[in-house]
Amino acid sequence: MPATVIVGAQWGDEGKGKIVDLLAQDSDVVCRYQGGPNAGHTIIAEGETFKIRQIPSGVVAGKTCVIGAGCVVDPEVFLGEVDDLESRGYTTSDVHLSGEAHLIMPWHVAIDGASERRLGKLQIGTTKRGIGPCYADKAMRLGIRAQDLLDAKILRQKIETALAEKNLWLERVYGVEPLELEELAARLERCAERIRPFIADTSLLVDRALKEGKSVLLEGAQGTLLDLDHGTYPFVTSSSTVAANAATGVGIGPNRIDRVLGVTKAYVTRVGEGPFPTEIEGSDQQRVRELGGEFGTVTGRERRCGWLDLVALRYAVRLNGITSLALTKLDVLSHFAEIPVCTRYRLPDGTELNEFPAHQSDFHHARPVYETLPGWEEPLDDELPAAARAYVEFVERELEVDVSLIGTGAERERVVAR
Ligand code: GDP
Ligand code: IMO
Ligand code: MG
Repeated sequence: MPATVIVGAQWGDEGKGKIVDLLAQDSDVVCRYQGGPNAGHTIIAEGETFKIRQIPSGVVAGKTCVIGAGCVVDPEVFLGEVDDLESRGYTTSDVHLSGEAHLIMPWHVAIDGASERRLGKLQIGTTKRGIGPCYADKAMRLGIRAQDLLDAKILRQKIETALAEKNLWLERVYGVEPLELEELAARLERCAERIRPFIADTSLLVDRALKEGKSVLLEGAQGTLLDLDHGTYPFVTSSSTVAANAATGVGIGPNRIDRVLGVTKAYVTRVGEGPFPTEIEGSDQQRVRELGGEFGTVTGRERRCGWLDLVALRYAVRLNGITSLALTKLDVLSHFAEIPVCTRYRLPDGTELNEFPAHQSDFHHARPVYETLPGWEEPLDDELPAAARAYVEFVERELEVDVSLIGTGAERERVVAR
């Protein structure tokens, strides 16, 4: 059985958690390859709801779970998640954390918040979970990694060195309270004791699983348009979200990946700031938000809603090498008599584009050109109404990719496989 990447094809919250949980039923190992507790992956199964942030979504299905080297981990969020799952009767004994993963420290969270406040109107609208500052320190080679938790002396030394510099930033640049060394060191040592047993050589673990013919899922967080290189910079997250990074993020070669499943909503949402050509104007904005329950899993913020954007989705197919799509939340569109779908962008000079603009200012000025498809106006079941089938087939024709799974509700079993 193959290694399959499951990647968000939009701005995140496409329903990756649900799709990973579904595919995990027939898989052996589930790995997260990037991101951290900025993610919120929802799984609804057996009457229970899980909103998972650090641990791969395969934990609910009881599979071996790996938090890869490309992830950033907040020790307290991670342990909170472990406690929550254990208290609900789900085991975390088969969860493994790469020693190479970087740790989100309290100063990262403080700097994320302070930096957003300082940007004011220019803010990115981050989740304020310390993601950007943590990845920045990784690139600066100032980071603290999971393996540093294995040795109390090394940990203490690294905290001291980093904090001396970070407190200067907090006080002098951002004008906020510095962090207290002893309190912080004690807090981290308490986490370290509990996290040590989770730390493993996860690259080796995944390699062995693949050699034994096991089936491995590589779960992305966020989405393609939030990718640090290829997304709508600077309104992006600080990691590489695209499928190619799944190999780096878990420590295997790119030739081990067999399939790339892109997850997309049947419409689009975005949390935080940044351009969004198909954002809905008027009362349908709120209608989609309410019907889709579009409120952030991590921050509770309202998600901005838009009609399906095939220009952006075509770009996601290209960047990730998507071999098939999961189209989620088609049921949310059951309430609309007509459904606009964006097939092209129009620039101010009249030029029309099928492909995503390479330059930011073109994207900022792009106006969507819609084709309006008829709605079906009835609830969805296993047998899709003709107009719903036509909607899916339209997407397939435009993108030249098969839609293999269709989401018809939030619960694990509410999916049509084609
Ligand atoms: P993720 O971050 O990509 O895992 O997505 P989130 O969990 O943040 O957001 C997706 C939301 O849509 C969650 O509330 C899911 O329970 C819900 N969801 C997923 N698939 C479907 C679907 O096919 N239909 C409906 N109505 N809800 C869905
Ligand atoms: P999942 O995995 C949707 C967005 C934030 C902000 C930008 C940068 O649940 O799909 P960050 O905190 O990462 O520095 O914020 O990215 N963002 C997400 N949007 N889903 C997510 O995760 C997101 N993670 C980050 O709203 O615009
Ligand atoms: Mg989410």
